[in-house]
Amino acid sequence: MTYKKKLIEVALPLEAINKASAREKAIRHGHPSTLHLWWARRPLAAARAVIFAQMVDDPSALPDLFPTEKKQEKERQRLFKIIEDLVKWESTANETVLQAAREEIWQSWRRACAENVGHPQAKQLFDRQKLPAFHDPFAGGGTLPLEAQRLGLVSYASDLNPVAVLINKAMIEIPPTFAGNPPVNPEFRASRDLVGRRWQGTQGLAEDVRYYGKWMREEAEKRIGHLYPKIQITEAIAKQRPDLSKYLGQELTVTAWLWARTVRSPNPAFAKVEVPLASTFMLSTKVGQEVYVEPIMEGDGYRFAVKVGKPKDSEGAKLGTSAGKRAAFRCVMSSTPIPYDYIRTEGQAGRMSARLMAVVAEGNRERVYLSPTAEIERVAQLARPTWKPDTALPVNPRDFKTPNYGLTTFADLFTPRQLVALTTFSDLVGEARERVKRDALTAGRLDEGEPLAVGGHGAMAYADSVGVYLAFALSKLLDRCCALVTWFPERDSTYHVFGRQALPMTWDFAETNALHTGSGSYINAVVWEAEVVEAFNAGIPAFALQVSAQEQTVSNGKVVSTDPPYYDNIGYADLSDFFYVWLRRALQPVYPDLFATMAVPKSEELVATPYRHGSPEKAEVFFLDGMTEAMHRLAKQAHPAFPVTIYYAFKQSESISDSGIVSTGWETFLDAVIRAGFAVTGTWPMRTELANRILAKGNSALASSIILVCRPRAPDAPTATRREFVAVLKKELPEALGHLQRGNIAPVDLAQAAIGPGMAVYTRYAKVVDAEGKPLAVRDALALINQTLDEALAEQEGDFDADSRWAVTWFEQSGFVEGDYGVAETLATARNTSVAGMVEAGILASKRGKVRLLKPEELPEDWDPKTDHRLTAWEIVHQLIRTLQGGGEAGAARLVATLGSKAEIARELAYRLFSLCERKKRAAEALAYNGLVQSWPEITRLARERPRAVEAGTDDLFGQE
Ligand SMILES: C[S@@+](CC[C@H](N)C(=O)[O-])C[C@H]1O[C@@H](n2cnc3c(N)ncnc32)[C@H](O)[C@@H]1O
Repeated sequence: MTYKKKLIEVALPLEAINKASAREKAIRHGHPSTLHLWWARRPLAAARAVIFAQMVDDPSALPDLFPTEKKQEKERQRLFKIIEDLVKWESTANETVLQAAREEIWQSWRRACAENVGHPQAKQLFDRQKLPAFHDPFAGGGTLPLEAQRLGLVSYASDLNPVAVLINKAMIEIPPTFAGNPPVNPEFRASRDLVGRRWQGTQGLAEDVRYYGKWMREEAEKRIGHLYPKIQITEAIAKQRPDLSKYLGQELTVTAWLWARTVRSPNPAFAKVEVPLASTFMLSTKVGQEVYVEPIMEGDGYRFAVKVGKPKDSEGAKLGTSAGKRAAFRCVMSSTPIPYDYIRTEGQAGRMSARLMAVVAEGNRERVYLSPTAEIERVAQLARPTWKPDTALPVNPRDFKTPNYGLTTFADLFTPRQLVALTTFSDLVGEARERVKRDALTAGRLDEGEPLAVGGHGAMAYADSVGVYLAFALSKLLDRCCALVTWFPERDSTYHVFGRQALPMTWDFAETNALHTGSGSYINAVVWEAEVVEAFNAGIPAFALQVSAQEQTVSNGKVVSTDPPYYDNIGYADLSDFFYVWLRRALQPVYPDLFATMAVPKSEELVATPYRHGSPEKAEVFFLDGMTEAMHRLAKQAHPAFPVTIYYAFKQSESISDSGIVSTGWETFLDAVIRAGFAVTGTWPMRTELANRILAKGNSALASSIILVCRPRAPDAPTATRREFVAVLKKELPEALGHLQRGNIAPVDLAQAAIGPGMAVYTRYAKVVDAEGKPLAVRDALALINQTLDEALAEQEGDFDADSRWAVTWFEQSGFVEGDYGVAETLATARNTSVAGMVEAGILASKRGKVRLLKPEELPEDWDPKTDHRLTAWEIVHQLIRTLQGGGEAGAARLVATLGSKAEIARELAYRLFSLCERKKRAAEALAYNGLVQSWPEITRLARERPRAVEAGTDDLFGQE
């Protein structure tokens, strides 16, 4: 067959993608990630851009249409513009932008079909009326399948983990099934206003989620409301707390109860007293609104009293009873140290308890903190759970800390009242399903039909679907309604369970009111759910399946983009049990197969966990073998017309050095991909942080992930010698470098992105052998690629004028620091220029036998390139940096407009100087060069907009400098 190079194999507007990914992090309302928690989700923007770019032809593959390099570049810029629009969050709901992208995909597809009419499987593989489907075998939170669906592909998501599969069903499979249906709830049916309305996409479904969620909350209130009594502000309370007299006689809703875990005092004199393990006594640290809790000695024990104002010893209050690392806590009665060992022994013997420290109630637009009373504590003890998740916590000492202290089952992570609330809501999911079904039948639009699990579309399946979202609201509640949730005194609110990818031990915790209406309540979760459901793109059908990536055959003939687990970073199966045990109770009748096992299946999970596999070595072997098998399947099955894209996620500890990424993880992964039969044709660093922010932090671990672009390696790939490999590298890398630079790749990302074209050469061969016939390892290939990249960058120096070439060499040695005149002059002679000439050119200062390059801020502000008779690239770059720093992009654009075509050289030089600075660890200067390249598209856009006005001096476009 013939295949065409895809855009992603040549160039990408990486900075625009990274920028949109970084911006997306701030979006919460209606973002698909708020449907259900999943760990290490990828940004939608990146996923959308990658799938688009792996399906669209690169113009160089269309010589008939774009015969010259210039025409190809112009066309590439047009495609970039489509991507730049596509990656914006607003575009997720912009049909015009999406449709433009879909049409591009179709055009490339039709070309592929036309060229492959003679393919032996043309009918199955190249049907011009039907785009190939998409598959992600490690679908997780569903980002990639969702974006494929948005781009118009029938999307398949598979994962080993039933919770992930469920998320994908909720995200891509269910919405198209009921698209356009009106709600079925009686309120809607009774409302005349709503009858005439047209229901688009998932609006009707979202409306029903809201309605039945509200019904569930009201039912729960009837059943368990007695466990959540309001607090009356009595005379006695107001006397103690004059600040509360404004509430006298009022009943306030409790939003949270703040508890401290307790153990018996290790001091024999107080052995009967259960003393608190409180990490803080501060309840609110907001300036001017401080509130804290004070333990007051009384009789043989103590009680807690809430105090308003700053505590006398605020450091002490911030520490609660904690006593530093080694002793852990101290006894509130006697100050005796309470070491962790002691707490462990007590906890494991079942002697850890909890004591109420304070109550948080809802005041008039404020939080009201109240002292606990025996009555309030007694009500909590009335809770009698009828069910609890007795499943043991996974054996995973890295991520699960509570077993050390005797909390060994999922049930142990909740208070009895939380268990009652969660069980009640779980029961109500089933009851709500019954109601939805009944109401749907009464509405008369749907037949009873088959259940959702077997592909039904009728009332039963609809009820099941609404049930899924109502159960997801329960998952959201779980993340807040758990005794691992702590209080956040800086914000007067609670944290949630999964602040990290682990279940830590907590000493004091906040028990929120599941029935109230604010953040952390069930109804609040329902509101969020409905908002996401409403935003789903419900057009093209999609499917979510449970299957292991080592065994799947789903990829057959499909476009594949995937984001596999990275080594041991995240224990998905272990962590997701937290939700699974509750979801199973609520949804087993809906998806009996998905919830067949007591806990999430773990043995096939591709995570290198030593405690599961016996040792770190065995875990590594398991991971690598499994990953190679999974990749092998992709290499064999994926649609031959498209490259496969694979995300490689970085661990925080991995870093990028001058010579690319120093990480055995990265090499091992590349190796596995190559051994699985792939050739690598691209490596794109993707970030969710802006390059300059990372550089400013002095951190060079930039990419949060790298997208590998892969093609199956030709079965007849030849062997090459090291020398041949290097020769081809030298020939091809400079051109690839040009593409990357014209794509305005951030200089910080250049070294990583250049590995792609380098690896494309390496993996073109079955193997590369050295002089002794030994195969060249990936590590060595990476080193050679980096070296060649450096040379290619240095070669670009040939394009610069003699003064600039001198300046680059000088800068490499001395930066902006003074150096010896004699050395400078010798170098100048070699470069065919002179120190005096460069002083005249305005880039150099020379005094008393010393020479130094002028810093941008020292350059003349009234510089006019038109009257400069010795114009140098060096000067252009540094003048642009000066104006950029002083007058922003508008100022720099004015300069670029004046410079005209001469300006382009500045970008090349900025890349070169960045790479020098990075190598020499000159972070501040690196930042300036990176900044110039990043602003380049905007500068040139502004410069293009009114060049004539600028020249005529009548321009007001650029505003004040
Ligand atoms: C990095 S996550 C995918 C995240 C996803 N791209 C997103 O944005 O939400 C990797 C996924 O691989 C899944 N996984 C682990 N081992 C697997 C296996 N053997 N087969 C299929 N899926 C597996 C995990 O359950 C996890 O959901």
